[in-house]
Amino acid sequence: MVNQQNYPNRTIWHIEGDEPVVQIIDQRWLPHELRIANLKTVDEVSIAISEMWVRGAPLIGATAAWGMYLAAFNLKNYHPSEFDSTINKAAEKLNRARPTAVNLQWAINNQLSNMKRFSSVNEKIEAAKNKAAVITEESVTRCKSIGVNGVTLLKELSQNKNGAPVNILTHCNAGWLACVEWGTATAPIYLAHKYKIPVHVWVDETRPRNQGARLTAWELGQANIPHTIIADNVGGHLMQHGMVDICIVGTDRTTRKGDVANKIGTYLKALAAKDNDIPFYVALPSSTIDWEMENGLEEIPIEIRNEEEVRKIKGKSGNSIEEILIVPEKSKAINYAFDITPHHLITGFITERGICKASEESLKKLFDK
Ligand code: MRU
Repeated sequence: MVNQQNYPNRTIWHIEGDEPVVQIIDQRWLPHELRIANLKTVDEVSIAISEMWVRGAPLIGATAAWGMYLAAFNLKNYHPSEFDSTINKAAEKLNRARPTAVNLQWAINNQLSNMKRFSSVNEKIEAAKNKAAVITEESVTRCKSIGVNGVTLLKELSQNKNGAPVNILTHCNAGWLACVEWGTATAPIYLAHKYKIPVHVWVDETRPRNQGARLTAWELGQANIPHTIIADNVGGHLMQHGMVDICIVGTDRTTRKGDVANKIGTYLKALAAKDNDIPFYVALPSSTIDWEMENGLEEIPIEIRNEEEVRKIKGKSGNSIEEILIVPEKSKAINYAFDITPHHLITGFITERGICKASEESLKKLFDK
């Protein structure tokens, strides 16, 4: 993706060799430091996902795919029957890393079913490597197509604004850091900027993880895209005062009926958008559709993370990165990581195949189901 300082242009890549290594941007240190981490085992991949060194549904999927390859590679001396039972255990463990993004189980299942087609251990390892590469590349092409389809909305809005910037509100980080390249919600924004359509982005998710404030702001800054960080509670106020033209967010899991799980607080943005007649779009690669699920509220597992992420806050002080307690020592907290936005609050989905309504009928039509 666009950057100013020769930073890596992807979030994940594989270095081939006698001992393969998967490298990732370790997102815990952004925006203050850009650190690269090496992953060599499926256990390390599991930790990187659960502790959010990598995060964002498409990137969780790509990382899990590489994790399955590392698991397979590290079983290279196993007998095929032993290989199968051990790889299944690795898959089960990896599957528990984070519950909400469907891309995790999607990538793992893809790897398992593909490896089953081969009988020798060497072939299985080779198949896992190729599949991980395909999943990674597909994430890039899907996101790029989301950009191409979504930029038409921004172009239309811009035509009615006489050169004034289109104000886009996005929640959390659904940018290239959450994917491999481009991002989902940000892909149309990057393209609009490239085509010289004036845009300005309101960036939120300031708690619990500050993903918008830390990550989306960093990304947009790298690409010289005008943006302003707002506290999570500000969105409704901006919408009431005509300061938001469109909301575009990402998704971790979308049911076939069109209910969306995304970073906690997305639902409140969608409610405010509905009340103020502002289009609310979800950028959606097909890898985040869960065709097995219908009702998001009843069926999508919502991750509850460690309460310390709410009780404490991390930031830069002088030259060091520190974590400080911001609540009374003994007060408890609860840390819901995602919420459900029901389909009736969503104007449409921007997918790699085009834009559609948030309904079972439209999704099925677009994806030939
Ligand atoms: O907890 P996170 O940072 O993994 O949550 C990420 C989001 O909610 C994103 O909006 C979502 O994964 C879509 S990413 C293109």
